[in-house]
Amino acid sequence: MLILGIETSCDETGAAVIQGSAKSTKVKLISNVISSSLSLHSKTGGIIPENAAREQVKYIIPVIKEALKSAKTKIQDIDAIALTYGPGLIGSLLIGVETAKTLSYIYNIPLIPTNHLLGHIYANFIELSSWSGNDILFPAIALIVSGGHTDLILIKKHGNIKWLGGTRDDAAGECFDKCARLLGYNYPGGPKIAELAKKGNPKAFPFPRPMIGSRDFEFSFSGLKTAFLYETKQRFPILRTSDEQISWNQIVLEEQLKESHKHTLYDMCASLQHAIIDVLVKKTIKAAGKYQVKSILLSGGVAANELLRKTLEEKSLQSNIKFFVPPKFLCTDNAAMIAAAAFFNYKQVNWQKVDADPSLYFNQS
Ligand code: KG4
Ligand code: ZN
Repeated sequence: MLILGIETSCDETGAAVIQGSAKSTKVKLISNVISSSLSLHSKTGGIIPENAAREQVKYIIPVIKEALKSAKTKIQDIDAIALTYGPGLIGSLLIGVETAKTLSYIYNIPLIPTNHLLGHIYANFIELSSWSGNDILFPAIALIVSGGHTDLILIKKHGNIKWLGGTRDDAAGECFDKCARLLGYNYPGGPKIAELAKKGNPKAFPFPRPMIGSRDFEFSFSGLKTAFLYETKQRFPILRTSDEQISWNQIVLEEQLKESHKHTLYDMCASLQHAIIDVLVKKTIKAAGKYQVKSILLSGGVAANELLRKTLEEKSLQSNIKFFVPPKFLCTDNAAMIAAAAFFNYKQVNWQKVDADPSLYFNQS
């Protein structure tokens, strides 16, 4: 079975083709095309939804054509179209949803509307040529860490999942991004903080680890962000530390700093990263223990973070639990993960009944 995936929930326009068969434990990645309007947004310091959607209108057809071409297939040979219908920016979602509906109507291809967050988890079920052959065993715990979400999910088997908890305020990625902005760096701030952290001491600043000891599986990162803000104000009084005052095209603070200040910057970034990872790893391992899972799946844009990947892998293996994380290019938004989620949770919906749902979430029962 060939599935064409379409993903347009945020600033990316993605299309991908995956292949799966009845006994597949992972799907095969045939093609994966992404066009991002990120450089456009760095001029404005963040994503302007209207601008993102305008770009997506231009790119959606060429991106789909390219995905089919590089898969050496035609739309008529596609067995189903998987599309992200939420959560995300309404204007962006609509581009993908309406395109998929039109293709479904014209070519009579079944549609599988898919939750973007489920897609992130299923990036772990995509087989690459480098795949080690290890199968994901259920039950599993999935930690989703992206720019907008931080969630712990229990997967009993395909199609049977339970939301255990999520963030009460900022997501982990949002905390990285907002702290980076305080220092003058553009979106996405996570990779920049991670890069600066490499040169710093993670124990230099005792930043808070909100809710690390709470009995539930909830998260909170806004207090950590505030602690980082106060430290920034104190250590770098010359820096602009509120959003309004930051002018987006005058950055590169690192180069402007004195050597001793540079080390403070590195230490602050290393300590921030350490605090975020500490909370994520502790809660995930706790959930894994409570539900006696056999696998831990890391996913979402923040899963591209080297230290998080390494630390969660170490702790999983210490607890005798298999650990999985997608290759970095499948951690950030892409259409292959949407097609993979659709394959394992196949639920066809008539095109007339498919609508974008910007605030879609997991059923929290
Ligand atoms: O999943 P994603 O591509 O988009 C959303 O659905 O939000 O995640 C983007 C997030 C951003 O917050 C970005 O800063 C973060 O992933 N991110 C990282 C790293 N790479 C991307 N955070 C920490 N370390 C990284 N290496
Ligand atoms: Zn995402």
